[in-house]
Amino acid sequence: EKGGYKHFMLKEIYEQPRAIADTIAGRVLEEKGEVYLEGLDLSATELAAMEKVFIIACGTSWHAALVGKFLIEKHCRVPVEVDIASEFRYRDPIVNERTLTLLISQSGETADTLAALREARGKGGKVAAICNVVDSSIARESHGVIYTHAGPEIGVASTKAFTTQLVALFLFAVHLGRVRGTLDQAQGRAMLDALVTLPRKVEAALELDGAIEQAAREYMGARDFLYLGRGNQYPIALEGALKLKEISYIHAEGYPAGEMKHGPIALIDENLPVVVVVPHNDTFEKVISNLEEVHARGGRVIAVTDHTDPGLTEKSDAVFMLPKIIDELMPVLTSIPMQLLAYHIAVLKGTDVDQPRNLAKSVTVE
Ligand code: M6R
Repeated sequence: EKGGYKHFMLKEIYEQPRAIADTIAGRVLEEKGEVYLEGLDLSATELAAMEKVFIIACGTSWHAALVGKFLIEKHCRVPVEVDIASEFRYRDPIVNERTLTLLISQSGETADTLAALREARGKGGKVAAICNVVDSSIARESHGVIYTHAGPEIGVASTKAFTTQLVALFLFAVHLGRVRGTLDQAQGRAMLDALVTLPRKVEAALELDGAIEQAAREYMGARDFLYLGRGNQYPIALEGALKLKEISYIHAEGYPAGEMKHGPIALIDENLPVVVVVPHNDTFEKVISNLEEVHARGGRVIAVTDHTDPGLTEKSDAVFMLPKIIDELMPVLTSIPMQLLAYHIAVLKGTDVDQPRNLAKSVTVE
């Protein structure tokens, strides 16, 4: 059932081009620049009336939520607040009938996320979910649902569920932007044109596997890792750190690159590998100067980028080069080396990759 792969996690990493293609299939009206989301069950009028969006989730799904905030605020011009379900549920959040609460959950059974849903619904808000498991509790209790079509995810470390959540959020943002009139037909079409190229770019990103395994050998002995990114890549830095700690048991932290000088810079020495996520976007130069700060202090830089830059190459110990795509979809591509690096380090350390200690696939207790 592992289809020739050594672990479910690796199989699921490699299933991503297919999982993403399935999540897009039948939902994109490219010519019209529109998205069709069967099951969302919230009318264009209802969606257009929303004054605020909450996105609530736990763990990796919360990282997807953080990326979702960028997509929705940029393209739909509505304020988005992201929260961890176990925080949201106990803080008496301000929700009314003009608030849309979007829950994200692979399993659809996470206790805190389900409780957050009930909290928002109980206050009269509209509730929609992004779930992978069909007919799960969270899917059933929401007004509407957008399913990710990742297929069953067995490995405890979420991989294809995460990248398909990013795709579902992208589809939702285009849809919301179109119904709210913040995206016109041409803009919608341009975004969807980019989206349909995503599966084969993910495939190209997976070709980094061998080089990443090499790097894993080099860095597996480290006691700690730091992951840095800005903007929509900051959640990917968090996700990279979570992947590494949950399956390799190495301590890792994700940080917004600009925040490094406010504390974590004190950790940097020649024993600290620093993964810097630095695609060629508006903050490229900023992240490069953060990377230089790491390099200048002897830190070992592992750069993840889509841009050949002599300064970057010179100051990095390893560079993983990804294909180019619009900035909104770049987090999907940068996720791939995060997954592969954590996977290979865990395998080299001999941990139980699919069933890491102390963790359950679905956390149905508080
Ligand atoms: O099923 P859910 O998406 O609600 O699960 C949320 C978290 O428990 C989950 O993402 C967890 O953080 C994963 N083990 C991460 O790889």
